[in-house]
Amino acid sequence: MALSWSAKEHKNTNQPAVATGLKRPRNDVGNKVAVVLGAQWGDEGKGKVVDLLATQADVVCRCQGGNNAGHTVVVDGKEYDFHLLPSGIINPKSISLIGNGVVIHLPGLFEEGDKNEKKVFDFHQVVDGLQETERQAQEGKNIGTTKKGIGPAYSSKASRTGLRVCDLLGDIKDFSSKFKNLVRQYQSMYPSLTVDVEDQLKKLKEYGERLRPMVRDGVYYMYEALHGSPKKILVEGANAALLDIDFGTYPFVTSSNCTVGGACTGLGIPPLNIGDVFGVAKAYTTRVGIGAFPTEQLNAVGELLQTRGHEVGVTTGRKRRCGWLDLVIVRYAHMINGFTAIALTKLDILDVLEEIKVGIAYKLHGKRIPHFPANMDVLQKVEVEYETFPGWKTDTSAARKWGDLPVKAQNYIRFIENHIGVPIKWVGVGKSRECMIQMF
Ligand code: GDP
Ligand code: IMO
Ligand code: MG
Repeated sequence: MALSWSAKEHKNTNQPAVATGLKRPRNDVGNKVAVVLGAQWGDEGKGKVVDLLATQADVVCRCQGGNNAGHTVVVDGKEYDFHLLPSGIINPKSISLIGNGVVIHLPGLFEEGDKNEKKVFDFHQVVDGLQETERQAQEGKNIGTTKKGIGPAYSSKASRTGLRVCDLLGDIKDFSSKFKNLVRQYQSMYPSLTVDVEDQLKKLKEYGERLRPMVRDGVYYMYEALHGSPKKILVEGANAALLDIDFGTYPFVTSSNCTVGGACTGLGIPPLNIGDVFGVAKAYTTRVGIGAFPTEQLNAVGELLQTRGHEVGVTTGRKRRCGWLDLVIVRYAHMINGFTAIALTKLDILDVLEEIKVGIAYKLHGKRIPHFPANMDVLQKVEVEYETFPGWKTDTSAARKWGDLPVKAQNYIRFIENHIGVPIKWVGVGKSRECMIQMF
């Protein structure tokens, strides 16, 4: 099941779309999908890139994560924050789709929808908080989650007791008994957990009715979008490669696949339909929450990046930890995602620095290590080898084309591009839509 919004009215029969082209020639792959993914630890500026591309898109989709994501978009001086809704929703011509891979907190979804014009339950959020307290008490270390219930909601999904939108829209008796079962399960683990089941069910039923006209069968919807008339489909990744449940800095990660595979499983898109994969990387690095961060700068540089970059979490209001750009992680993200191009954001934040460093390799006991370490104890211990660049000490915020950038900034960008081995397509020099230099 998938949820779709559109500024323009579109027919809702609640029936699967006509499956055109089921028997098509072997070489007819259908329309290609562009995917935007975070290449670091999140907050790279994915929302801004999606907003930019959405001006051309027919369908903009979210495929994974939940309202742990916080994507800021600035258009005509107005700032929008999106958590569950795709950032493309500002474009009145495109349809916004939330795919099966997303965990939804229904009150949060409607609040966000209302503000800008769940399959996470309230108790999943409470359990998230209880689990964090337990981790702190038992291991002396929590994860620093957003407490949006993401881990518990995906746990319920993986243990096959989660509830899906189709359950909510089906037989309400069935839904109620499944919901009660789920609550009982969590209460047996957390006896202090109190849930007003009848009140929750009443609210969920109301949400279900509000949701009903927006629900589509995602597989048929996507199939039609891929094989019907030519359509531009854009997928907005949430969170980022280093927060991926499989490839990230486990266990200090989120609970979904934020790498390219998440676009296929979270929307029902065949891999051959994936076209461009745009990696978004900041010109430095930030991280929210706990976990190893080799290039972190716990000094004046880190503070400057934090304040100049306004590095405060959109979802939690926490200060983001800041450090130099780490190309070991961006290259690692590219190995998994196969980026076809990179958007390098927030170059302007570096404008005032005397010198700028870039992490290019990790060393352990004085020797370079060939891989990004899977073991977090090792990652905590690595020493970073840096390349140092002279700062350009020039305001870049008014630059609109490559030639407007100072040569020292151009050298910095070219070095990054060569090191990752992926062309840089956009360079960000400010928050708003027009502050994006397009290179090709
Ligand atoms: P996301 O989670 O990847 O969508 O990123 P966030 O929205 O959480 O964080 C990125 C922040 O940087 C937002 O406040 C954006 O408005 C801002 N931003 C994006 N690109 C640029 C840029 O090139 N320069 C500056 N100064 N700010 C930017
Ligand atoms: P966007 O889409 C930055 C981090 C949390 C925490 C860990 C687990 O805005 O880039 P969770 O609540 O998902 O169980 O938290 O993951 N995290 C993010 N950090 N940006 C995000 O999303 C994040 N989504 C999750 O801070 O460390
Ligand atoms: Mg964010």
